[in-house]
Amino acid sequence: MTHILLRNRDIPDIWQFETYTANGGYEALRQAVTEMTPDEVIQVVLDSNLRGRGGAGFPAGRKWSFIPKDAKTKYVVVNADESEPGTFKDRELLEKNPHQVIEGALIAAYAIQASGVYIYCRGEFWDLAHALEERIAEAEAANLAGEDILGSGWSCPVRVHLGAGAYICGEETALLNSLQGLLGQPRVRPPFPAQMGGGLYYQPTVVNNVETLSNVPWIIRNGAEAYRQIGTERSSGPKIFCLSGHAANPGNYELPLGITFRELIFEHGGGVWKEKALKAILPSGASGPILPATDEVLETPLTYEDVAAVGSTLGSASVILLDEDTDIVWAAAKMIHFFKHESCGKCTPCREGTYWLDRIYARLLSGQATPHDLEVLETVPQQMDGLTLCALGQFARSPVWATLEHFREEYEQYVGLREAKAERA
Ligand SMILES: Cc1cc2nc3c(=O)[nH]c(=O)nc-3n(C[C@H](O)[C@H](O)[C@H](O)COP(=O)(O)O)c2cc1C
Ligand code: SF4
Repeated sequence: MTHILLRNRDIPDIWQFETYTANGGYEALRQAVTEMTPDEVIQVVLDSNLRGRGGAGFPAGRKWSFIPKDAKTKYVVVNADESEPGTFKDRELLEKNPHQVIEGALIAAYAIQASGVYIYCRGEFWDLAHALEERIAEAEAANLAGEDILGSGWSCPVRVHLGAGAYICGEETALLNSLQGLLGQPRVRPPFPAQMGGGLYYQPTVVNNVETLSNVPWIIRNGAEAYRQIGTERSSGPKIFCLSGHAANPGNYELPLGITFRELIFEHGGGVWKEKALKAILPSGASGPILPATDEVLETPLTYEDVAAVGSTLGSASVILLDEDTDIVWAAAKMIHFFKHESCGKCTPCREGTYWLDRIYARLLSGQATPHDLEVLETVPQQMDGLTLCALGQFARSPVWATLEHFREEYEQYVGLREAKAERA
């Protein structure tokens, strides 16, 4: 298959400006800026049904259309925080095909008539951020970024910013705060980033994921209809699936949305390592509910709707496999510890809830938990339900309730309930 996003797999030197442009690079930006109005660009992206690849799957064209046209200052922010456990697709795109990300961001910027683009990279991407600055300088030298782009009169500098390495700074409003030099904590919404008062420096701002924007040059060059031919009606286009955990061949796989878990894991990913049986799947890293590896789940198409219908989320498609030997309580404890560590502490249900959950898991794993701890374990996520300022507090609930729903007997073993029941019988 020829790649749309991971073109570096077909053209290894595509990170170089000369190779990128020799293979059609920046033609879409040229087409947009010299032949299309900003509204026409938004319409093509709307018609393509491109949905955000950062987690929520929100249509990109709709987000762009929310930006008030009369605002004087507007921004595009590229979310390159990539902190979700098991997600490593944006890194490959930024490292191996960076001009495509820059071109996609500039087309988005043209569509909303932005005054600047910021690429926000997680702190650990420091080496990558420096390389990106060199790629941006190449684009500027060719009059594709910066002042008076392609002689159109529209100017748009592109800047790279490094975070300090916090998961919460992937959440768009915490990211904007961090970019502004404030504490990286989510903002109260509304106003949303696209609205006046809600974005970067409180100006209307589009925040899009790296992979989302990487789709845009292809859509402009090939048209919305061609893009919709890939994937399914409601989940269009290609997607990079990050396969990890107990996979035989972990890595990034660019495939059309709508392939099944079974196809991804067994046909493309070589199955489970060491020829073990598959016990469970985390379809969206630590954030989405775990699914047992039943036939129904394995036959589920990887789309935003279908994964939701079986009780989880596609998210950024970081598919983590857990083999038959995995201790599910241990796995849930690891995820809860992560959320407790990454909770920014701004709201009480998340700050205290993740702390209490972490303590209960510590008791479970050390053999000190009682059946009462199991009851408390069930009530804490209920008390966080819908009461947190951002989605981290909601993500932190799922390792508990989903593992309890599907693998309750493993918890019962930890608190000795199973043995007690067996003795009574
Ligand atoms: C705790 C948390 C962490 C997030 N981390 C990321 C991230 O690392 N990268 C990302 O693109 N989106 C992340 N998001 C989603 C962003 O808030 C936002 O929805 C996304 O950047 C929008 O881009 P898209 O519409 O192109 O998907 C995160 C959300 C939450 C709640
Ligand atoms: S839910 Fe958690 S991470 Fe989000 S704002 Fe509240 S305390 Fe911070």
